[in-house]
Amino acid sequence: MAESAELILDGKSISLPVIEGTEHEKAFDIGKLRDQTGYVTLDSGYKNTGATKSAITFLDGEEGILRYRGYPIEQLAEKSSFLEVAYLLIYGALPTQAEFDDFKYRITQHTLIHEDIRKILDGFPSSAHPMGILSSLVCSLTAFYPKSIAPEISKEELDLNIVRLMAKISTIAAWSYKNSVGHPLIYPRNDLDYCGNFLYMMFSFPTEKYQLNPVVVSALNKLLILHADHEQNCSTSTVRLVGSANASLYGSVSAGINALWGPLHGGANQEVVEMLEAIQADGGNTQKWVDKAKDKNDSFRLMGFGHRVYKNFDPRAKIIKVAADEVLKALGINDPLLKIAGELEQAALTDPYFVERKLYPNVDFYSGIIYRALGIPTEMFTVLFAMGRLPGWIAQWREMRENKEPIGRPRQIYTGELERDYQDISAR
Ligand code: MLT
Repeated sequence: MAESAELILDGKSISLPVIEGTEHEKAFDIGKLRDQTGYVTLDSGYKNTGATKSAITFLDGEEGILRYRGYPIEQLAEKSSFLEVAYLLIYGALPTQAEFDDFKYRITQHTLIHEDIRKILDGFPSSAHPMGILSSLVCSLTAFYPKSIAPEISKEELDLNIVRLMAKISTIAAWSYKNSVGHPLIYPRNDLDYCGNFLYMMFSFPTEKYQLNPVVVSALNKLLILHADHEQNCSTSTVRLVGSANASLYGSVSAGINALWGPLHGGANQEVVEMLEAIQADGGNTQKWVDKAKDKNDSFRLMGFGHRVYKNFDPRAKIIKVAADEVLKALGINDPLLKIAGELEQAALTDPYFVERKLYPNVDFYSGIIYRALGIPTEMFTVLFAMGRLPGWIAQWREMRENKEPIGRPRQIYTGELERDYQDISAR
């Protein structure tokens, strides 16, 4: 491997050190580029720019590989649980039984949220999107746990903030749903596991307790695992950038939730189901919509296909597709949207238009379908994505702080007006 890259600019040559990661990804370090040359790089959307070095998640877009701390996502989805994967991502190793029991116990002890947070929730109209409630109430934790906003916090305090956030996000998420449908809030129980407790708070009523279905609990565990981290995606980069200013974990994650809310990011799974519902409402003629998606004069595009980093297939989609089939079969659900989704999937996998453009189904395409099967309402899909991604955000924020990374401050190329003098308004 080359030790350095030579850059020749304006007749001058400079050497840029080359670094190689453990999976042989290579980069040249431009940390001194502007000082040495006066130039900066320009890479809109940072598609070719490494923002950091990280030991948390590795993905290979060409080979469709995704590993959390070296463990293949396929093995974790099959054999682990969401909280065990959360511990792995955050602390870097699979927990011993004692460590895992302690982690689960501490999370269970923190699922309640302060009754004054409930008063904030009561102030939201039922029309409020649950993601707006989630980001607001997560940020409100800074008010109830003011030690969390200190620029420097101890390991013990950080561990407590982490456990509080992991515990309370499921209660806040379930309550954001109850607020949206005007139903009474259901408080968490200490005798249920993480996913079971969330489903219980989502679907129980004071007069009728939700009966947990092990198929549903298992599928939710798998879905949250598959969403737990994805290297430097938009929302994780947001969490890192906000956290690099020494902002609190709660404030940084609240910013990440808002980034994930964007339809081009975490909001895509909600867009997929709304697209399928529109096709169904239009009579279910899937080929008509496939043709619209291919028509360059038509603005319609298929949601849930293709990916910024995966070039051949999204490994998470493969796992979720199998899980969706299993859940629908186990629950005896014949969802008409699934037929439409299957026809779109076949078009994406066989029609040269989509194959040439690598527009194959991604994780968002199937996750919306399985969430529907689990009874999760469409507006809650991105909230589930946020719940799943939370350990990844925490792990990345923690790594950024442990590595004492500098405040993020990208440069720009100015394209505006040259210097000019102020004119009094009477002379304009
Ligand atoms: C994610 O999991 O964050 C999405 O696939 C988006 C991405 O990685 O860019």
